[in-house]
Amino acid sequence: MKLQRIFVCGVAGIVLAGGRLLAADGNPTNAAAATAAVYVPDTSHQNDPLPDGVLAWNSLTQDATVAADAGNAHFVFSFTNIATVHETALVTNVTTVTNITAVTNSFFFWFKKISSVTNFSTATSITTNNVTKPVPVAFLEVHPGCQCTTTELPPLPWIIPAGTNAQFGVAVNLAGRTGMQVKTVNVKTDKGFKQLILKINILPPVVPTQSDADRAHALEMAKADRQTVFQGDCATCHVKPGTGKYGKPLSDAVCAICHESKTRASMVPDLHNIKTPTNVDFWQTWIAHGKAGSLMPAFSTADGGPLSDMQIASLAGYLNMAIPSQTAPPPAQ
Ligand code: HEC
Ligand code: HEC
Repeated sequence: MKLQRIFVCGVAGIVLAGGRLLAADGNPTNAAAATAAVYVPDTSHQNDPLPDGVLAWNSLTQDATVAADAGNAHFVFSFTNIATVHETALVTNVTTVTNITAVTNSFFFWFKKISSVTNFSTATSITTNNVTKPVPVAFLEVHPGCQCTTTELPPLPWIIPAGTNAQFGVAVNLAGRTGMQVKTVNVKTDKGFKQLILKINILPPVVPTQSDADRAHALEMAKADRQTVFQGDCATCHVKPGTGKYGKPLSDAVCAICHESKTRASMVPDLHNIKTPTNVDFWQTWIAHGKAGSLMPAFSTADGGPLSDMQIASLAGYLNMAIPSQTAPPPAQ
């Protein structure tokens, strides 16, 4: 009974609104059939949270697990524009109006004193203000939370036509990063903003193992030429892990392999127990030039090594801080 009343009320509302609108605008079909204008996004809502029911995302948070030397992680965010607005529209073929005629004597209509509903029973088209119409959504700005993150999408504003599916790429540069990384991308649309989250689990580097024979052979080669360690197969373990890294991750990749190894040869000294005073210049010099006639290679490109001046400066700065000088510098003259 209650449902029936709501139905009747709704239809009556449509009919009455229709009656008024039809009267005000003699030819409502023109409005409905007008050619769609170029979509001009309204920028006033770009800082409001994006309401539900505007974009249906494949997921707002994406996870990836990558190898230590992956270099970057790539994601695709896919979504469907399901945005709608309520608006006035023309409804034709109004056969249900005859139902109203049948209930005009009900208590409800009597109470509301709507006695002229039957007048509309002959109408063939009416206007209702309760029609949902799909609308475009415009991407106004896209801001990655980190310089390491880049987005791949069309020029902004990017207009997503009503009801369509679209996608864009996000790439995270993982150079110099280890462990769990959480990155964000903030998307501002004309309907509100949304934060997308990327979780990247960088696996620990695979610890290289060598047979005793290989190691002995490597030692012979390094004794003949200490720079051999940067060449051929040797580079797989001694150079590649440091590519694009700076500071601690670089030290862990290219210095620790010799100096922190528990099984290192006796001629490889413990950097935490250096007998002379140390400072940034000390580290810089040792890293850049190593020591001729020893197994300590020269890392600077000028000396045939693999590290840029910036990488060496980052290492010297990091190690000078991480390993305090064990002995006081000699008194100034
Ligand atoms: C599979 C990875 C791997 C490769 C390939 C490799 N090394 Fe090494 N290297 C190591 C590790 C790990 C250490 C640390 C010592 C240890 O625990 O074995 C090391 C240590 C060294 C040392 C210090 C001395 C020592 O044995 O402790 C020298 C010198 C050296 N490598 C030279 C070379 C040369 C030259 C080559 C190429 C012929 C080479 N390495 C190839 C992994 C590798
Ligand atoms: C291939 C193995 C190897 C690698 C890789 C290596 N070193 Fe060395 N390093 C040595 C050896 C061997 C010595 C001893 C040199 C000598 O005979 O005096 C040494 C000596 C040193 C010394 C002098 C220590 C002292 O007691 O005076 C410093 C400092 C040093 N290395 C820093 C580094 C840094 C920083 C890195 C990374 C950029 C690095 N080393 C990479 C083998 C290595």
